[in-house]
Amino acid sequence: MSERVRLGVNIDHVATVRNARGGSHPDPVRAARVALAAGGDGITAHLREDRRHITDRDIEALSALCAEAGRPLNLEMALTEEMLAIALRHRPHAACLVPERREEVTTEGGLNVVAQADDMARAAGTLSAAGIRVSLFIDPDVEQVKASAAVGAQVIELHTGRFCHAVGDAHGVEFRRLAEAARLGHSLGLEVHAGHGLNYETAAEVLAIPEIRELNIGHFLIGEAVFIGLDAAVGRMRTVMDGITA
Ligand code: PXP
Repeated sequence: MSERVRLGVNIDHVATVRNARGGSHPDPVRAARVALAAGGDGITAHLREDRRHITDRDIEALSALCAEAGRPLNLEMALTEEMLAIALRHRPHAACLVPERREEVTTEGGLNVVAQADDMARAAGTLSAAGIRVSLFIDPDVEQVKASAAVGAQVIELHTGRFCHAVGDAHGVEFRRLAEAARLGHSLGLEVHAGHGLNYETAAEVLAIPEIRELNIGHFLIGEAVFIGLDAAVGRMRTVMDGITA
């Protein structure tokens, strides 16, 4: 029997709320502990260059928590010298390279691995040599998938944002793009993850794609936590992912 699909809980937006008042509450590390206890398999956090939510101290504390709990930390980061140095210092289980523009509200599209192949290959080599799994956040595009394999990534995370926003026929079109990219990635030896904008319904839909081994979900879970609590939101997502209807 194949292993269950892993759930990475992205706790960035706990830090967004904390930073709105500049204090220490709510603490993303406490949220990470709750998420792991409630069925999350790992923690995902994006250290943005502008530190708008997660801070360097958060990464330090999250690294310690994940090491103690024996759970993976997936560090999302832009490909910069500063971020590479931080990744090498903390040695998370995985580094997920994402595109980053300061003016964006969230990560709006995937990496252009085709155009940045040399830089990606160099970063993938450096991170892999330090025992860090390299994940590339890409749109479900055939050329980007092939380039990701060529630069030496172990993982691709398919951007599900367009799929989640698309309605009607376009939703089906986006689903097929994800399914095709996942199939190709798997056939090239890549582990396939997916994330961005997922909720209970869209998570269940993408899990019909058998090559997907991990979902990384943040904003929806933190939003749901306002109404039902983080443990219940993560628990329900876990139940959805296990295919058990609540
Ligand atoms: N995966 C990646 C690579 C991301 O950049 C993000 C957003 O930070 C997520 C997953 C989670 O997206 P969301 O917060 O919309 O669930």
